[in-house]
Amino acid sequence: MARGCRLGQPLHVLPETGSTNDDAKAGARAGAPHGAVWIAETQTRGRGRQGRTWVSPPGENLLFSALFRIPCAPARVPPLSLVCGLAVRDAVARALGDDARVLVKWPNDVVVPTAGGLRKIAGILVESALAGSRVDHVVVGIGINVHTRSFPDDLAAIATSLALEGAPSPDRAELLADVLAALDRDLEQAAHRGLGPVHARLAAHDAFLGRAVASDDGTIDGLAAGIDADGRLVVRRPDGTLTKVASGEVRLRPAR
Ligand code: BTN
Repeated sequence: MARGCRLGQPLHVLPETGSTNDDAKAGARAGAPHGAVWIAETQTRGRGRQGRTWVSPPGENLLFSALFRIPCAPARVPPLSLVCGLAVRDAVARALGDDARVLVKWPNDVVVPTAGGLRKIAGILVESALAGSRVDHVVVGIGINVHTRSFPDDLAAIATSLALEGAPSPDRAELLADVLAALDRDLEQAAHRGLGPVHARLAAHDAFLGRAVASDDGTIDGLAAGIDADGRLVVRRPDGTLTKVASGEVRLRPAR
């Protein structure tokens, strides 16, 4: 891979696969090295978080998974989604030529704010396996909507792509190289030492910051007050108390 990046060696390019995350997990079990990457033109069983599917027509978007052999503590894994989110955000913002418009939506989406709400332009699925009490490997799966101009009905109001956002000439190879370079620079360090220097950059591109948020089950409801050093979403309740959310689904709450 270009730019002195250690990731993408080897690079498995697949016209079609079930899920690049499954390929990377199988590769990990078979002894694939740190930095191996699987990229596909389309997936027949593309997966998102919380059991959702990830559908992408052949040849339109960027779908890949990278294998990281980082023997860190399991508690270090959840914040890695945010490190990936920032890497993808930076690459998408560069492709759009607009650094202010692209944001990270805790815990793992990259979004573009519009009058109708946040539209998702990329999603991240981080999966890990343990060896004893330590992490053996982490698989980072990334889907970036690049050329798709028409989404299925259930996504049409909440998804977008680089093409729809007016990127002058979105290039999947450039995006891949940008994301891998950022992951190479930041992911291992975050796995061993925490969010550290990434934290300030995340705070500058936090889609929820200062906005009313809620969880579907109603247990979280308040104003988003940032992301803490451990990657938890901080929410200020109406009574002024703070709650820190480590995982789960939180959405912008419509005004009441
Ligand atoms: C989400 O938004 O819930 C995460 C979506 C992650 C999709 C990518 S596409 C490449 C990789 N392979 C998968 O099956 N999923 C991830």
